Amino acid sequence: MIFKTIIEPFRIKTVEPIHGRTRSEREAALEAAGYNLFLIKAEDVLIDLLTDSGTGAMSSDQWAGMMRGDESYAGARSFYRFEAAVQEITGFKHVIPTHQGRAAERILFGTAVKPGEVVPNNTHFDTTRANVEYRSAIALDLPCPEGRQPQEYHSFKGNIDLTALERVLLEKPGQVPLAMITVTNNSGGGQPVSMANIRAASEMCHRFGVPFFLDACRFAENAWFIKLREEGYADSTPLAIAQEMFSYADGCTMSAKKDGMANIGGFLAMNDDDLAQRCKNLLILTEGFPTYGGLAGYDLEAIAVGLKEALDEDYLRYRIRSVEYLGEICMHNDIPIVLPTGGHALYLDAKALLPHIPWNEYPAWALSLVLYLEGGVRSVCIDSVMFGRQPDGSEQPAANELVRLAFPRRVYTQSHFDYLAEVLVHTKGLAPRLRGVRMTYGPPVLRHFTARFEPAYGQLIVD
Ligand code: F0G
Repeated sequence: MIFKTIIEPFRIKTVEPIHGRTRSEREAALEAAGYNLFLIKAEDVLIDLLTDSGTGAMSSDQWAGMMRGDESYAGARSFYRFEAAVQEITGFKHVIPTHQGRAAERILFGTAVKPGEVVPNNTHFDTTRANVEYRSAIALDLPCPEGRQPQEYHSFKGNIDLTALERVLLEKPGQVPLAMITVTNNSGGGQPVSMANIRAASEMCHRFGVPFFLDACRFAENAWFIKLREEGYADSTPLAIAQEMFSYADGCTMSAKKDGMANIGGFLAMNDDDLAQRCKNLLILTEGFPTYGGLAGYDLEAIAVGLKEALDEDYLRYRIRSVEYLGEICMHNDIPIVLPTGGHALYLDAKALLPHIPWNEYPAWALSLVLYLEGGVRSVCIDSVMFGRQPDGSEQPAANELVRLAFPRRVYTQSHFDYLAEVLVHTKGLAPRLRGVRMTYGPPVLRHFTARFEPAYGQLIVD
């Protein structure tokens, strides 16, 4: 190849204006929002990296597909197109549409999991954990040891700890209704899981008669990492890799808001006839008839097209490389990040960047507020605000204090990334002057969404 620059593999047909507020306008917005970025108006944000979920740009083919949407209540053409697209990639016999990923989780766990049982996973996403715990069951995280070290390089830090998994399966016979692997591992830094790990976990579960499921939200990004990093896959297509990943599983939950390239939607898929029937019965109760599952016909069309676009090599190369590019700039400027860079997000290590801010003054939270104040960038914290409060009401530090910059799909261009890099380098320069925050209101559960704060020392940045 003569040219090294990896361009966005699309051109822009519709634009959505974004606005830079002044620093003092952002300061006022922060104060009004109780120093919580979830409570800021989206129009006051310049670059919104709160999540990669449902925030992507749809393609012209997806919009064209939406016009084809068949809104029949039962047996719509759109359902069959959606079902065929999911089956081509996953090979699962039963495909059950849901309005988003957590609905698929609730229906699966509501049907298959009983109180007191244990569900192992490499790392549960917070809604997955909440849906297991809502069944009075135990959500057990079993990341591989490398996955716990933010700044240690390993090709597949999303792997499940197979020794720990085997121990659970041995020690809890009859108490593990299913085991899961989340690809990529979102809560663990967007890190991929190797094919070897998926295959071994599947074999182990089946040896113990335990069904094995994938939380497949970012299956295409995981397939791309396997192609790049795992021996024997360099010449395989992302589709063939994804098909092999799914071939080891008995079913999956999926949020189509990620690698479905849609703004809403999800599904549950599986091979077991009896389980599928019971899931469909519960689906009818709360989501809708099994050929639409809470979605419009046009949403099913957008997902059917989007799932295939997510596996496009040019798209995946551009997507993964954009995050890696930003990661390289961070490393070059001694900005501590979770290494290597993940698929959908860059994770800043606030504990390492701001060692002078104690965990109970929430260093990640303070850092994310300063990124907004200085550059209009919105991020999300995976930190002691999210995980610190224990069921007995006490406070414990979280394992890590991370700021996640999650990238919407096909939304931001190279110059947005260059701007972002400048904001990060500028903020790094301010690091010794940053101060923590104090929580003035915190609800008992999922407090990061609505908690309110104030600067612990009068200002976020001291002189
Ligand atoms: N599983 C994983 C790994 C996820 O990352 C998410 C959502 C879900 C399940 C739930 O899917 O939102 O469609 O109900 N993650 C988003 C995020 C919200 O920002 O990481 P959903």
